[in-house]
Order: sequence, then structure tokens, then C-alpha cells
Amino acid sequence: MERTFVMLKPDAVQRGLIGEIIARFERRGLKIVAMKFMHVSRSLAEEHYAVHKGRPFYDGLIEYITSGPVVAMVLEGPNAIKAARATMGATHPLEAAPGTIRADFGLEIGRNLVHGSDGPETAAFEIGLWFGDEIPGWERDVDRWILE
Ligand code: RTP
Ligand code: MG
Repeated sequence: MERTFVMLKPDAVQRGLIGEIIARFERRGLKIVAMKFMHVSRSLAEEHYAVHKGRPFYDGLIEYITSGPVVAMVLEGPNAIKAARATMGATHPLEAAPGTIRADFGLEIGRNLVHGSDGPETAAFEIGLWFGDEIPGWERDVDRWILE
């Protein structure tokens, strides 16, 4: 089983899309193992997006992520990182496939609604950063109908 970090960005919260977006991950079968509604400090935003420091869009990205509350969560499942990113769609909503979150709800790269870890190392780092290292798992009764 793999875990990934997913965040509903401030535009998703402001637009009242929290339930709509979480439902897509949930009904796909990804299991929520941690979740919180929170305000993002500048220092947390800077640590989270440290890899983008120095890029032209970095300052705007930090402004965006700290501009309002977000919903942070950890999702678990087989290939959870890839599954979550496929559900989200390509970074730019115009390049995202129809049916993905970013295509269905977005138009611009700087308002693309969701974040998902992009690999195992990033996922481990981000989960630790946002939730710490002790997230318990739980038994889900329907798992045998979702996982072979
Ligand atoms: P994310 O980290 O948010 O899940 O998105 P991603 O992996 O698909 O894309 P990434 O390259 O990591 O970019 C992080 C976020 O920065 C904003 N961005 N703006 N204006 C621009 O050219 C630009 N490029 C990236 C987006 O909000 C993107 O999700
Ligand atoms: Mg990224």
C-alpha cells in the first residue's frame, strides 16, 4: 500500500468544492487516513514548495497557497500517488483530460485547485511535514470489493 499527500488549495475551499473534490478521491477507492482544514503559514508554504524556490511563479504560488484555508489529507491505496494525480489531471487545467478535477473545475495553472505528491520521496516528505510520522491505518470493510 502506498500513501500520498493531497491538498485542496484555497480556490477549491473558496468555491465550495471541498465535498465535490474529496468525493472523487473517495469514490475511486482511495482511503482517507488523515485530514484537516487549516490555515497555511508562510513558513509551511515555503517548506512545502521549496523545490520551486527561484522559479518565476514562486512568489505568486506562496501568495496563493497562503491566501485562505486549505484542506490537507493523506490518501492510501495501491499506487496512491499515481492514482491521485490521475484523478487531479495535468498541472495546467487546459491540458488536463476531461473528467479530471483540474479540467472539470479549472482554467488557469495558478488556480488549479489541488496538489498531489509527485513521487514516493516527495510523498514521504510532505506527509511528515503536514501530519508527522505517526498516522495509523484503519480497516475498511469494503476493501475486498475495491482491492483484489
Ligand atoms: P502540485 O505540486 O501543486 O500538485 O502541482 P504539479 O505537481 O502538477 O505542478 P508543479 O510543477 O509541482 O507546480 C506546482 C504548482 O505551482 C503552480 N505553477 N504555476 N505559472 C506557472 O507557470 C506555474 N507553474 C506551476 C501551480 O499551482 C502548480 O500546481
Ligand atoms: Mg508538484
